[in-house]
Amino acid sequence: MAARRRATEKALPVAQPQVDSPEEILGFLREHREAVDRHLPSLLPEASGDAGVVREAMAYALLAPGKRMRPILALAVGSMFGGSPGRLLSPACALEMVHAASLILDDLPCMDGASLRRGRPATHIVYGEATAILAAVALLNRAYGVIVSEPLDGALKEKVRASLAARFSEAIGPGGVIGGQQADLSAEGKTLTLRELEFVHSHKTGSLFIASAEVGALLMSAPEPDRRALENYAKNLGLAFQITDDILDAQGTMESTGKDVGRDDTRTTFVTLCGAGGARQLAAELVDAAVAHLDRFGRRSRLLRDLAFFIARRDR
Ligand code: IPE
Ligand code: IPE
Ligand code: MG
Ligand code: MG
Ligand code: MG
Repeated sequence: MAARRRATEKALPVAQPQVDSPEEILGFLREHREAVDRHLPSLLPEASGDAGVVREAMAYALLAPGKRMRPILALAVGSMFGGSPGRLLSPACALEMVHAASLILDDLPCMDGASLRRGRPATHIVYGEATAILAAVALLNRAYGVIVSEPLDGALKEKVRASLAARFSEAIGPGGVIGGQQADLSAEGKTLTLRELEFVHSHKTGSLFIASAEVGALLMSAPEPDRRALENYAKNLGLAFQITDDILDAQGTMESTGKDVGRDDTRTTFVTLCGAGGARQLAAELVDAAVAHLDRFGRRSRLLRDLAFFIARRDR
């Protein structure tokens, strides 16, 4: 294997993938985040009369300053295969709609009972629980609307739109985010094993990371072996992301994270099971494992490496 790699290196003298400087990484993340932020408002549906307040709550949750990790992941994968923003942006933004919906629900008193999100009062604090729930459902609904009917560059075949919708459904459903959230809630007050906790994290958070990478790949009709490698990358990255979230809940502040901290005090987390140092180590190992799956893409995967580097060191 090593011999084969050496032979390939000789035949193809391409620059070896390296990690960019922290400034370049932050610059890339900002550029993509701004592209997502510019596009998101155009995707919100019109609404009048009583429904106007639901649209307002949707905009409040969706347009609040988030890191936009999931759409950035989809964009980074899609652009690796030569995708244009006109083709990638709307489906990438649909992922952010799903994520925003999950945050609205996650903060409700019946779930985590959080009151601060993205540096602002949580949606249910501003609009009330009933409107917050409707806004979450409306965002989920709109995400599918975007996938099936938003114009996309490159005459996207209906078959690809159908695959995207199926992929969303799988990632959000009881086998994905919803299943992970239920397992998380059911675990309240119980001590989980490492394996059980990994199930929770890889479903409530990992599922949408995997789907995000796949959205980029599906949009560009990436070959199957590439898709499998990206799935493995995103799987490790998503788990690392939720472990760092556990660390921030235990060690971060409301000012730096923009959300309630200490909400996991009654839950098993990677910090309670491994200690903060152990959790950090595990996250770093998962990020390394994620990046190892990018070898086949060489320098083309630079943005995906940058994203992994950011996740390993994030403080919000
Ligand atoms: C928060 O996600 C919920 C988790 C799955 C950990 P993010 O940390 O991506 O939140 P935003 O989108 O930046 O607000
Ligand atoms: C939430 O996990 C995961 C989803 C929203 C699906 P957390 O409950 O840990 O997220 P935060 O810490 O509230 O952002
Ligand atoms: Mg939660
Ligand atoms: Mg929460
Ligand atoms: Mg958390």
